[in-house]
Amino acid sequence: MAIVLISLILITLVVLYFYLTKNYNYWQKHKIPCADGILPGVGHFWDLITMKLSFSECCRKIYKDNRNHSMVGIYNFRSPALMVLEPELVKTVMQTSFSNFHENGLKVDPELDPLVSNNPFFSSGEKWATGRKRLTYAFSSMRLKILLESVKQVCQQFEDYLNRKLSNVGKIELELKDMFARFTAQVVTGAGFGIDGLSFNKEKEKESFYTMGKSFLQPTGMNNIIVTLVFFLPSLGKIFRLSLLPKKVDRFFRTIIADVMEQRRTENIPRNDFLQLMAELERVEGTKIDLEILTSHAVSFFLDGYETSSITLSFVGFQLASHPDVQEKLRNEVISVLDKYDGVITYEALKEMTYMDQVMSESQRCVPAVGFLTKICTEATELRGSDGLTCHVERGMQILIPVHGLHEDPRYWERPEVFDPERFGPDRKHSIERFAFLPFGEGPRICVGMRMAQLQMKACLATFLRKYSLELSPKTRTPLKMDASYFLSAPEGGFWVYIRPDKN
Ligand code: HEM
Repeated sequence: MAIVLISLILITLVVLYFYLTKNYNYWQKHKIPCADGILPGVGHFWDLITMKLSFSECCRKIYKDNRNHSMVGIYNFRSPALMVLEPELVKTVMQTSFSNFHENGLKVDPELDPLVSNNPFFSSGEKWATGRKRLTYAFSSMRLKILLESVKQVCQQFEDYLNRKLSNVGKIELELKDMFARFTAQVVTGAGFGIDGLSFNKEKEKESFYTMGKSFLQPTGMNNIIVTLVFFLPSLGKIFRLSLLPKKVDRFFRTIIADVMEQRRTENIPRNDFLQLMAELERVEGTKIDLEILTSHAVSFFLDGYETSSITLSFVGFQLASHPDVQEKLRNEVISVLDKYDGVITYEALKEMTYMDQVMSESQRCVPAVGFLTKICTEATELRGSDGLTCHVERGMQILIPVHGLHEDPRYWERPEVFDPERFGPDRKHSIERFAFLPFGEGPRICVGMRMAQLQMKACLATFLRKYSLELSPKTRTPLKMDASYFLSAPEGGFWVYIRPDKN
């Protein structure tokens, strides 16, 4: 009896092993080098499953270990995926051969996540083109100036919030992601929907957009499991019927957008927000935009704008706290430019703050909020690397772009470990390898909200730096170690700083 049982177990294990490793000779067959460290069933993502490294950090490591090749084959769990390692191939995938790779690799199920699935990031074809066109309309220079009026109100609320915190005390200790998430949540609600998101209101914090955003975007254990299953193991995500946007948040958006849009369509009061721009677009196009689609655009504004921008701001804040000389130089720029504009944060004033652009770009180079990108081959093609490797890419193949790895490759960046905003200065920026710097992606799918993001981040930093200074608290764990369970970039333990009114 025991022998039968042992034999059965052995047979099951052998069958399971063959099932889990069935595809693992794909790269050998295609004569493409394969990254080391493959394990049955999980491929190259054992560190992700054991929560040792995030997906982005896994890609960063694979890039580092294989960058002597132009491309490397990996196994994303059981499926072969190709990582392109040189900027020229990144350009081919993201721009030159866009029609062969026009879909993003991260997907959501339209049935489980209807509002998110209409987001241009997750859609393709006609749906993508229409969604992208509408967001592009809202973020033209002329309309950004309109949105800036709402952002300026948030800047005032931000300043009041800090003044309240600092009243009667010389300095306060704060976590930067928390502080900037209040700012970006308030921008989304103010510049997005023309309402007060209550994110700086201590009494009403529980009802605020900041709390709502945190409830499903913050890297807690449960949220991370949901994101990992939805994005990286979608078949399991489907079985458990998991959605990125919790039902409660889905209902909340539907109610709020329906109410606000109804008002906007009927009343004629000029306003400075995204929904007003959508109401105007309806008038221009002469058709009503379907409410479900409009709600999806509003959710895009929230999902894409809130978390990425607050992450980016908190890394910039960390760099400024760690490099007092850069902080001082930037403060001087902010003060001298604002003096020219009577202290008012205008569109033109922000444009003149060019050192601020350098600081933000360099911070994004050191740690991009989105450390990897994935594309899907939509039409079979051939990719040829400069080292002679040629890969026949089949339709449906996933392509990985190791953004963070490219940002720290010494072949493209002199002393990449050094935070040096001068790299992006007028003398040196022309020598930057364009496709080795991808904080907002590239090509026809480049982040459609990039200019909105830069505008709100610059307004936030200008408001902060003209009055306050930042100093690193010993509570910040340096050197930074990225939170392994989060799919965007966030350091373990957060960014703790002391904030005090600036002496000057
Ligand atoms: C610092 C803040 C932000 C960062 C770092 C960021 C980064 C990115 C990246 C890396 C992509 C993928 C691009 C590609 O596939 O080539 C992307 C796409 C996108 N972003 Fe952003 N983003 C930010 C802010 C925003 C804001 C404020 C909005 C809108 C309100 C926005 C809306 C979008 C949309 C709709 C897409 C999909 C575009 C498409 O596939 O056509 N993003 N973003």
